[in-house]
Amino acid sequence: MTALTLSTAAAPGLRADAIVIGVAKGDKGPVVAPGAEAVDKAYDGGLAGVLETLGASGAEGEVTKLPAPAGFKSPLLVAVGLGARPEKDAEYDAEALRRAAGAAARALAGAKKAAFALPVVDAASVGAIGEGALLGAYSFDVYKDNGKDAKDKKNGKAPLAEVALLGAKPRDKTHKAAAERATAVSEELNRARDLVNTPPNDLNPESFAAVAQAAAKEHGIKVQVLDEKALAKGGYGGILGVGSGSVAAPRLVKLSYTSSKAKKHLAFVGKGITYDSGGISLKPAGHNETMKCDMSGAAAVFAAVVAAARLGLEVNVTGWLALAENMPSGSATRPGDVLRMYSGKTVEVLNTDAEGRLVLADALWAASEEKPDAIVDVATLTGAMMLALGNRTFGVMANDEAFRSAVHEAAEEVGEAAWPMPLPEHLRKGMDSATADIANMGERMGGGLVAGLFLREFVGEGITWAHLDIAGPAFNEQGPFGYTPKGGTGSGVRTLVRLAELTASGDLG
Ligand code: BES
Ligand code: MN
Ligand code: ZN
Repeated sequence: MTALTLSTAAAPGLRADAIVIGVAKGDKGPVVAPGAEAVDKAYDGGLAGVLETLGASGAEGEVTKLPAPAGFKSPLLVAVGLGARPEKDAEYDAEALRRAAGAAARALAGAKKAAFALPVVDAASVGAIGEGALLGAYSFDVYKDNGKDAKDKKNGKAPLAEVALLGAKPRDKTHKAAAERATAVSEELNRARDLVNTPPNDLNPESFAAVAQAAAKEHGIKVQVLDEKALAKGGYGGILGVGSGSVAAPRLVKLSYTSSKAKKHLAFVGKGITYDSGGISLKPAGHNETMKCDMSGAAAVFAAVVAAARLGLEVNVTGWLALAENMPSGSATRPGDVLRMYSGKTVEVLNTDAEGRLVLADALWAASEEKPDAIVDVATLTGAMMLALGNRTFGVMANDEAFRSAVHEAAEEVGEAAWPMPLPEHLRKGMDSATADIANMGERMGGGLVAGLFLREFVGEGITWAHLDIAGPAFNEQGPFGYTPKGGTGSGVRTLVRLAELTASGDLG
């Protein structure tokens, strides 16, 4: 994992592989961002002109490499675009810094150490630059080893190993805390990405549960794993029904982080379908190649609980991972089957590809039994949400408007794009079943909202609840951008951590 340090060194004398500076889009061409004064001085104040000659404009994500000026101990300068220069007297916003740091870190894959001389004004900018660099430096190349006899083991370049933030104050408590927070959150978020990227022949409910158990032990989190026998004994018909087609049996993992100073209790529930083939309602070719990502919600919940523990947040956080593999087989649930759920309600399964809501229903009811102050579930739930919001924004639904706004704001605050979605009552009747209490499918139109309405039925009376449908942003099938890699993105993690922080400080509900 990439190391993050705060340094008081001046850029010229610092021995690193590269110095990263910021360049913004000004009215008349590129402008050098604050933090790079010492570098600009080596060009007699002409660095912006040099960059312009090289074709730089300061656009977001743009990376320009040039040899460092004579006398510098580092050989390379990396100028990274910050986008439009902020209005006079305003600062660069956290997300612009996060993205620029991420783009620079990606461009420096293979390097050992880079010094980031980006605009640092306060602890928030330290956190943003640190987070962007650590998240951007991520790579997943466990499976790229050229065969077991190869001398050159890795095809990919190793991620940037060390990031030193210049301009940050190592002895300032708030700067130090921001760097520590960035490290904890980014490391756990990157671990969530690893889980998402791990192919489904190596990550199944049992192995996911084992990873959670090991991490819980390491961080003093209480963990309980219900295996298929315990699930049967407990009556978890939703999780068992979805998992019944697979040779890899389902699991329900409960992670409990508790703080002696906690006044509130939050529950996070994650959809953990380690592979979604669709089941008997099999997905057609072209729709299942990326379905290892269907456990992204559980990965986000897992990462957020561990991050909350590492940060010692003064709030109790329980994470529920609803893990199953959705496969077709002679033992699989059929369209037409009726499942008796953990809540006691019966569900007619009309489409086995609407499996996420079934595993979540059991976990939501289990979470509700503890009467937490709020429940937030995270799930790659519907293709409909992707159609509605695209692949960078998740939808937020809730049984409480104020809570929905609070979740939306928390997401925006940490740089996750989110948007509030309604739960229109009239869509409920589409899920009426002739045989059971409810069907797992309703009207096709508004499919993301229908799924949300289904989940709402399994939230305990009087409990505040929000649902994040991360089907769009969880998995990036396009090229990397900013601090977001190709593949698993860790969507939802930062929002959940922020919600836990806000709850701890009493600023949420
Ligand atoms: N895991 C999928 C949703 C999904 C699709 C996530 C694409 C990420 C990318 C989910 O289980 C699913 O199959 N949903 C169906 C529901 C339908 C059968 C009611 C869908 O959205 O088509
Ligand atoms: Mn499905
Ligand atoms: Zn699914």
